[in-house]
Order: sequence, then C-alpha cells, then structure tokens
Amino acid sequence: MGKDVIIACDFASVDETVKFLDKLTKIRSEVVACDDITISSRPFVKIGMELYYAEGPKIVKMLKDRGHKVFLDLKLHDIPNTVKKSMQVLGEYGVDMVNLHAAGGIEMMKAAKEGLMLGAARLADKPKLIAVTQLTSTDEETMHRELLIDKPLNEVVRQYALNAKEAGLDGVVCSAFEAEDIHKACGDGFVTVCPGIRLVKDGSDDQKRVMTPDEAKAASADYIVVGRPITGAEKPAEAYDEVMKMFRY
Ligand code: C5P
Repeated sequence: MGKDVIIACDFASVDETVKFLDKLTKIRSEVVACDDITISSRPFVKIGMELYYAEGPKIVKMLKDRGHKVFLDLKLHDIPNTVKKSMQVLGEYGVDMVNLHAAGGIEMMKAAKEGLMLGAARLADKPKLIAVTQLTSTDEETMHRELLIDKPLNEVVRQYALNAKEAGLDGVVCSAFEAEDIHKACGDGFVTVCPGIRLVKDGSDDQKRVMTPDEAKAASADYIVVGRPITGAEKPAEAYDEVMKMFRY
C-alpha cells in the first residue's frame, strides 16, 4: 500500500503546470543520477478543481502521458445516480485516485464506487476512491451553529470514515493528527491521505495544524499531500527529495 508523497499542483493552467513539472523532472533526473536514490522521477500529483475546471480532461491526459500518477481532487457530492455516472467518466480517464464528500451518505458512496469501477474496467490497477470527511475549513463551532451537527468533530470524522469503509471506499482525506484514530476505527488497510504538511513548523501559510513529513509518517499517514513547500520552493526537486526521504525512508 501507499506510503507516497502527492504533490498538490495548484496552478492556474496547463502551461504553468508543465513548466513546474519540467523543472522538477529535469533537475531531478540529475539528482537521481548522481545520488543513486530510487525515488520516482515521475511524482504522484494532485489536480484540484481550479485547474480541472480551467483546462478540462486534457490536463489528466497530459499528466498520464508523461507517466505521472494522478489524484483528481474534485470532491463530488450529488444524488447517487449523478455521482455514479460522473465517476464512470473519471474512471475512463485512468486516474489513480479520486474523491467525494462522505457527507453525501453511504448510498451515494456505493454508487460512486460502482460507477468508478465500471469506468476503470479496462485498467489493471484500479483507482482508489477516497472520501473527504469534514473540511478543515469547517470547525466544530460552525458545525454546531450552521450545520446543526452537535457531535464533537472527531466523532463526526470517525463516523464518516466508518461510513466510507462500509460503502467499500479505500480511505479518507484527513489531517495526519486524525490518521491513527481512523486506522484504529477502520483498520490499517484503510488509506489515510493527509494534507497540512510542512518541512519546517514555522512556514505554515494558511494551514492551521501542520506536521512535518517524518511526524506524519510516525502518525501512520499513508499518503501525504504537499503543495507549496515543493511548488513554492526555490529548488523544488531538492524539496521533493527531502520530503520523500523524510516520509518514506
Ligand atoms: O500548499 P499546501 O501544502 O497547503 O497544499 C495542500 C493541498 O491539500 C491543497 O491542494 C489543498 O487544497 C489540499 N487540502 C488541504 N486540506 C484539506 C483538504 C485538501 O490542504 N482538508
């Protein structure tokens, strides 16, 4: 299973993304050659709504053609039939990981899985379907006041993860702070995909609770999602290698 670093490519266009990846892979192939390390020169990348809505499916095709694994972070949430049909389309693209909101319920998640597997029928490596539990932008107070959910946040996250497991999903997006609890509730094979990672604790941008890659590893995160510490680094290839070494070795 997993234990991989996913680079969040939060760029505005294909051009910007290609520019970044060219820089990353060109410099990295030199780093790999001289250091004799076995880190993939085609990193796992995450594409979000902004880039996908701006560029459409061609961004996924371009990344797959270049040999990257792709996490398509579109967070689907609609009635089961609509989500099933949409997931079928995404499955046909050959994405490696895709997600939805657990708040859509177990029936919606089951339909999503069915659709995704139909779409990916020709693929030997099936895509992973991951649920977003509670957005980190929604805190406990907002849940109580606006959404009228009166349970503690960690209980809601755990229940949503259990629902996702019951629906046959592969795992959840969560904070690394929640990864151990989720593994306890849902088993070690249930994947945790964790954003909010920083190489140093004082550079957290807008992330409120952060962990370093080695802390996330110790906290039993299966995948970490890292954006600006790599995409905004002066030397992104070196930053990626550092994150990989801290998380995987
Ligand atoms: O740049 P940074 O490392 O903060 O990027 C983290 C990525 O993970 C972004 O693409 C962000 O949208 C995503 N994400 C997050 N927190 C969540 C879910 C997704 O930071 N709860």
